[in-house]
Amino acid sequence: MNDRHLLSIADLGREGIEDVMRTADSFREVAGRSIPRVPALRGKTVATLFFEASTRTRLSFETAAKRLSADVMSFAASSSSLEKGESLRDTVETIDAMGVDAMVVRHRSSGVPAQVTAWTSACVINAGDGQHEHPTQALLDCYTIREALAQRRGTEDSQNGADFAGLRIGIVGDVKHSRVARSNVLAFSALGAEVVLVAPRTLMPPSLDGWPVKATADLDSVIPDLDVVYLLRIQAERAGQVLLPNLDEYHERYGLTRERSNRLAAGALVMHPGPMIRGVEIAPEVADLPSSLVTRQVRNGVFIRSAVLFHLLGAADSGEAIDA
Ligand code: NCD
Repeated sequence: MNDRHLLSIADLGREGIEDVMRTADSFREVAGRSIPRVPALRGKTVATLFFEASTRTRLSFETAAKRLSADVMSFAASSSSLEKGESLRDTVETIDAMGVDAMVVRHRSSGVPAQVTAWTSACVINAGDGQHEHPTQALLDCYTIREALAQRRGTEDSQNGADFAGLRIGIVGDVKHSRVARSNVLAFSALGAEVVLVAPRTLMPPSLDGWPVKATADLDSVIPDLDVVYLLRIQAERAGQVLLPNLDEYHERYGLTRERSNRLAAGALVMHPGPMIRGVEIAPEVADLPSSLVTRQVRNGVFIRSAVLFHLLGAADSGEAIDA
C-alpha cells in the first residue's frame, strides 16, 4: 500500500488488503500490552473531519491515531463555522493551514474525500462518503472474518486472504444506499469469496452490471448455504422516498430472526457494521449470540485503522518499527 490516500478498496487490491491485515496483527499485539501505545507517528497530526453523524468510526480513528502517538484534531460539522455559511473548501483549507498530516473525512455526499485531496497536501482517508464507499469498514470486516476462521481452525495463525477462497457471504438489506456494501463487495470478492446480495427490489441497486455478485430477493433460499450473514441497516437518511411499507414486514422477510438463525449452517458467522437496529434487521436476542461478531468488528476497527495510518503516513516505508 503505497498510495497517499485511501478513498476506495479498489486503491488496494488483494495485496494491499492483505498488507493492511498483516500490519493490523501487530497492532492487535500492541493492544494487549499494559501501555498499548507505540511512538511510530510521534510529531504527526491526524485530523478527523466528520460532516455526518458517527459514533464508532470517529472514535475508532481517534483511538488508532493516539495509539500511534499522533496528535489528534477533531472537527465536527455541527459545531463549526459551516453553520455560519463557510464553504467546505474554506473549511478544509483552514484545517490544512494548521499543518495536518492526515485528514479522515466523512460526508453525506459521494466523492467528497476525493475532492478534498485537491485542497490539502495531507493524506486523505475516506471514512464513509454518501452511498459510495467506506473502505476501512470493509478492511475491518475482512480482518474479523479471517480471525474468526483462524480461531475455528484452532489457531491464532491465519492464512491471510487464502481463508476466503470459496467462502459464501450474504450481504442482506439496504444494499442500494449502503457504502459499506459497495466496499465489502469489492474487498470480499478481491479475496476470492462468493458474494450474494439479498434485498427486496426497492433496496437493490437498479443495475448490478460489473458487480462480481449474485443477487436474490429470497433470504430463506440462501440462508442454509451462507458462511457469513452480513446485515445492513436501512439507510433512512439516504432514501429519497419511503422504501418500505412497514418495518415489521421487513423484519419478517429480511430480518435475521431466531428461526432463521437456527437454519444457518453450523459455525456460520453473523456480522453488522453498526449502528444495529434490533428488531428490524436482526432479532434482539440473535445479536447477542456467540456467532455474532459485532463487538469483535468494533474492536478490530482500531487495529485496522492503526495499520492504515501507519502505512499512509509513511512509517512502514521508512522502516519505523511498530514496537520501537
Ligand atoms: C455505517 C456507515 O456509517 O456507513 N456505520 C459505520 O460506519 N459503522 C453503516 C450505517 O450507518 O448503517
